[in-house]
Amino acid sequence: MIVQWYPGHMQKAKREISELNKYVDLYLILLDARAPLSSRNEQLESLIKDKPKIFLLNKADLADEKKNNQFLKYFESINQRALCVDCLKGTNVKNIFKIAENLLKDKIEEARQKGKRRKIIRFGVLGIPNVGKSTLINKITNSSKAKTGDKPGVTKSKQWIKINDYFEMLDTPGILVPKIEDDLVAIKLCAIGSIKDELYDKELVAKKTIEIIKKDYCELLNKKYSLDFLNMSEDEYLIEIGKKRGCVLKEGKIDTLKAANLFLEDLRKAKIGRITLDEIGDR
Ligand code: G4P
Repeated sequence: MIVQWYPGHMQKAKREISELNKYVDLYLILLDARAPLSSRNEQLESLIKDKPKIFLLNKADLADEKKNNQFLKYFESINQRALCVDCLKGTNVKNIFKIAENLLKDKIEEARQKGKRRKIIRFGVLGIPNVGKSTLINKITNSSKAKTGDKPGVTKSKQWIKINDYFEMLDTPGILVPKIEDDLVAIKLCAIGSIKDELYDKELVAKKTIEIIKKDYCELLNKKYSLDFLNMSEDEYLIEIGKKRGCVLKEGKIDTLKAANLFLEDLRKAKIGRITLDEIGDR
């Protein structure tokens, strides 16, 4: 087992979504563009029942552009609305409103015909840890109310934040527990930083991630570390990264844990390049 996991978290997430469902008109479900399938939890998603949803492939600035487009086509092919966004810079965030209005156009029209005031659309945000939920809420509401970072207890009571006359947003996101279906999904979630560090073996994850990305991104890897993968195993590759980056223990041995940390940091900050770990066919 790559990650030690506790089923109790799933129960808590289920309770949270049932609570959110009482108030929310439309969900913004954040996925990590670097692993849009692995960062999805369809089991928990099903609890929102027939409420409309928009998938936001966040951190698109860190993901492979070609694959961003492939994944958008994939979501279209399964009849789901999806957008690639960068919540830090706000790229594409405005388009959320157009899509939301379109998804709820029948309800808006129904209210208009009844002579009622236009319905206010209430957004709820869902996603696994570290995917950018608070960053999105801050970006949309221009507020620092939704504090970034996973600090339990930061937001105790939920509040609606007015965006404009037509939209409101819940200041507290719903945290989806990652669905770790197999070791490959677990490795990818660890690699992108969705799993707490203390729950997995960093060296193992670094080596397995190198194994996953070397097929499509071998050139990027070799360029970053001035190495050549030919005739090298993942273990050797990590040792070589350690040598290059001066990760040496007192007794002269290579500190592979430090090398793994450096590699994962490089990967997460896209210092190796824009890399996507999932493939369309993974699901
Ligand atoms: P969460 O509420 O879903 O847990 O995520 P949060 O908004 O706290 O964001 C997690 C990290 O991801 C933050 O970095 C945030 O700046 C970064 N982030 C969010 N959206 C984007 C995006 O579109 N592009 C990029 N490049 N980064 C984004 P952090 O505070 O530095 O944390 P960490 O990355 O060191 O964990």
